[in-house]
Amino acid sequence: MNRRETLKLMGAGAVAVGVASPVSAAFSGPSLASLGRKRGIGFGSALSGNSLDKAAYVRLLASECSLLTAENALKWKYLEPYDGERTYGDARALADYAELRGLRQRGHCFVWNHHDRMPRWLINTAASLRTGDTSKLTRRMWRHGAFLAREFPGIHSWDALNEAVDPWTGELRETELTRLLGNRLVDLSFRILSQKYPDTELVYNDTMNWEASQLHKNGVLRLLERAIKRGVPIDALGIQSHIGKTLGRPRDELAWRKFLEEVQGLGLDVLITEFDCSDQNIIKRDAAIRDAETAAFSKGYLDLTLSFPNVRDVVVWSLSDGESYMNRQSYPEYRWRTDELPLRGHAYDKRLRPKPMRDAIALSLANAPDRA
Ligand code: XIL
Repeated sequence: MNRRETLKLMGAGAVAVGVASPVSAAFSGPSLASLGRKRGIGFGSALSGNSLDKAAYVRLLASECSLLTAENALKWKYLEPYDGERTYGDARALADYAELRGLRQRGHCFVWNHHDRMPRWLINTAASLRTGDTSKLTRRMWRHGAFLAREFPGIHSWDALNEAVDPWTGELRETELTRLLGNRLVDLSFRILSQKYPDTELVYNDTMNWEASQLHKNGVLRLLERAIKRGVPIDALGIQSHIGKTLGRPRDELAWRKFLEEVQGLGLDVLITEFDCSDQNIIKRDAAIRDAETAAFSKGYLDLTLSFPNVRDVVVWSLSDGESYMNRQSYPEYRWRTDELPLRGHAYDKRLRPKPMRDAIALSLANAPDRA
């Protein structure tokens, strides 16, 4: 049986075994998707290829979500590890799954202005070119955009450009891509996708949240403002919202409100694209205390952010602690807890039992003002 057939069976099986499944608690009340839908807000999660093989988790995801982001599978470096050589990895399976369950698909991400996050060969190609000699690079960008649109036509929203601003300077991050293209990197990322996906929402996505520095917030605003002036077809700002850094410390909430007002003033929609809340800074080891604190912090953040009616979707960066990138070896060590306990940054624990953060998200969605 191939993976596609297995997925079909899992889809059918979810109805039959839902009651006895370990996630049955999640089915007892309204789902996060339905709470969001009542207010006009989409709710979804990232999903990795590995998690797709876990039946109980995938059932939970399908019951809670109306949209899905492939966590890594659609990133350029995985789709084209060598110049002109494509590998699909889990991208096909994830797209098939989303289609099967009627989940809207967010594409993440077309261009990521970060050397480590792009195909090595592409960065090497760019590094070999002289300033002004950009066609070899731009041809590859067009080719990749065409490939995405041909192979993954069902995507309703794309992060056309990810993390272009350097949080330490507020300017475009200096990479081989910006050395050659400067602001044209912004224009091209959006123009290519708008031509290849004329009906798809196009998003600038950044590591933004209420803990970002003023320099970073201003840098993002400047990028958006200038891009709009140049006529770049940008529909929305994606605020990643990996929060928790300032938990228990001072933070300027007024500045966050002001930032959201300015984005609204630019006429852009906003999406929360990668929400989670790290408990790295909570010294206590007790899980109940950590969960209560991250839930309260999350609720504060979501209540404030969702009070802006141009915030359209909430996507969490996985639904459970067990599937979280925070608890993978690849997660940077400086972000681990000093006691090295697994991080508890998500709405469900690793046994898929709902945590207070699940209630926090539910309440924030239920209490958000109605979207038009
Ligand atoms: C992360 C994934 O979750 C990890 O599995 C991977 O190793 C690195 O990327 N900002 C983004 C996401 O835009 O793509 C990142 O996802 C998290 C930070």
